[in-house]
Amino acid sequence: MVSLDPIIRCSKLTKTYGQGESAVQALRGIELEAFAGELLMLVGPSGCGKTTLISVLSSLLDADGGECRVLERDLRSLSAAEKTAFRARSIGFVFQAFNLIPTLTAAENVAVPLLIQDMPRRAAVRRATEMLERVGIGDKAGKLPSQLSGGQQQRVAIARAIVHEPRLVVCDEPTSALDHQTGERVLKLLRENALRDGRTLVIVTHDHRIFPYADRIAQMDDGRVVSVQRPSEKSQ
Ligand SMILES: Nc1ncnc2c1ncn2[C@@H]1O[C@H](COP(=O)(O)OP(=O)(O)O)[C@@H](O)[C@H]1O
Ligand SMILES: [Mg+2]
Repeated sequence: MVSLDPIIRCSKLTKTYGQGESAVQALRGIELEAFAGELLMLVGPSGCGKTTLISVLSSLLDADGGECRVLERDLRSLSAAEKTAFRARSIGFVFQAFNLIPTLTAAENVAVPLLIQDMPRRAAVRRATEMLERVGIGDKAGKLPSQLSGGQQQRVAIARAIVHEPRLVVCDEPTSALDHQTGERVLKLLRENALRDGRTLVIVTHDHRIFPYADRIAQMDDGRVVSVQRPSEKSQ
């Protein structure tokens, strides 16, 4: 069910990296909304600001100007500690580089968001192992990230992003290391798990094969959202 209340509302959002001659204006006035129960995809050429935008949405990075409201909070009004707590409870991430902890097993990596929320260790690892089964790599629960293929690491990262049932899941190119069949399976899994009960999923992707899974697709170019379309309207 897509509700009418935006879970994300960005207006006139700007972000510049560096200063003077070397300054790069990564976001140049982003206007964007995402709704409860929606899978919104963000697409656009390399360097257009996609990773910067989802870093701001997930409160990992501060914008310079404009407004960004996420899950009823004005991100500008939150202290660093409040942002940390907000992310731990409400947001799941799949980073482009997976960012798994190399000294922890797959199950322990997936358990991290539960441990941060004080779930007892045994229960957290059990729940994490169930999540790994759901993404099709239950047999890898005891392996270290270095013992897994890129695609398997990506599935661990996805399991970690959804294990604590956050209201917003943000993914940077989640299917890039996966073959088509596995990519579709992961997308279905993300849709089933990250959209339940009015949750919201934002996926950055270049992979046009997964466009049909989107509710809406926001096209970015040079720091702006230039159009928002339904997948059926988008030429591929
Ligand atoms: N930490 C950073 N320091 C300086 N420039 C950056 C940094 N991160 C990104 N950029 C620049 O900002 C622009 C947008 O980058 P990014 O958000 O990563 O784009 P995308 O994810 O769409 O490829 C690019 O020109 C990139 O080089
Ligand atoms: Mg990027």
